[in-house]
Amino acid sequence: MRFEMPAAPPKLPDPAQPDIEPANRQVNQAMKALYDHYFASLDYGKRYPQPNQATFEFLLHQGASQAQEILDFGCGNGRYALALLQATQATLTGYDISDTALAEFSRHLEHAHGRARVKLQLGTPGVWELSGRYDLVLMLFGVLSHVGGFQERVQTLRQIRDVMDADGRLLLTVPNLWRRRPLELTQAVLMRWIGRAEGLQAEPGNIVFCRKLAGVPHQFFYHLYTVESLRNELREAGFEVTRVEAESILPEWLITQHPWLGRIDARLSRLLPASWGYGIRAVASPL
Ligand SMILES: C[S@@+](CC[C@H](N)C(=O)[O-])C[C@H]1O[C@@H](n2cnc3c(N)ncnc32)[C@H](O)[C@@H]1O
Repeated sequence: MRFEMPAAPPKLPDPAQPDIEPANRQVNQAMKALYDHYFASLDYGKRYPQPNQATFEFLLHQGASQAQEILDFGCGNGRYALALLQATQATLTGYDISDTALAEFSRHLEHAHGRARVKLQLGTPGVWELSGRYDLVLMLFGVLSHVGGFQERVQTLRQIRDVMDADGRLLLTVPNLWRRRPLELTQAVLMRWIGRAEGLQAEPGNIVFCRKLAGVPHQFFYHLYTVESLRNELREAGFEVTRVEAESILPEWLITQHPWLGRIDARLSRLLPASWGYGIRAVASPL
């Protein structure tokens, strides 16, 4: 799939989805097609064969151990949800826009103890359709970064807030602007500087990068965060950030493919400020 970051798209009325900008809808549809392919090729599971153990422990310490109803928004193949199913008594809802991600999750569930506590929900890109009530919501490993531009991300977060208990928690991990994709980030900065960035390109932190999946190049839309921009975005959506930390020093693929490296990384990451992490881990509460 080839995907160009949409530049100033025409505004087409769509009565079925009045809330979403065409540029964001294009991102949503492109991300769905991309992840359908990523999971179908089995590349995702090979690249990230297990949860990041330090993040998994963070989830348990920050509410998952006591949670009753967990929503894993952008659950993918269930990398975290399946581990939580075994470690907690919670009921889990896995929500994703990729049907092949959910098909893989469903296959893993066939032999999983406690599978009756899991519900999978296939989302339609750009359609607000969450229901239920949750005391814990997860958005892990950059899900929020794929959602689209600022307004789209804030709307998504508000939708999540609407299905959360007043004393519920949102746990999320996002890519750090200072550690990720310097080449694409520099290109994006230059485009803005010479006045050629339009539409989603004009938003600081938005990039498109290319990765080969099963040997074929694919383009990913990503929004990169600083600690401050994450705080501001969550505040705009009605959340207060109560904790931030560095997710890891080394890239996620390296520490999930080599758990011994992950253990060393987890110890060293504790010493790092959040703004130096490969990813930023955060806890947020509804205001
Ligand atoms: C990097 S993967 C993370 C998957 C999982 N959370 C993990 O840690 O392995 C991003 C996931 O977000 C999903 N996604 C992307 N855009 C989404 C959206 N607008 N709504 C829900 N899920 C979305 C993708 O289909 C994909 O499964």
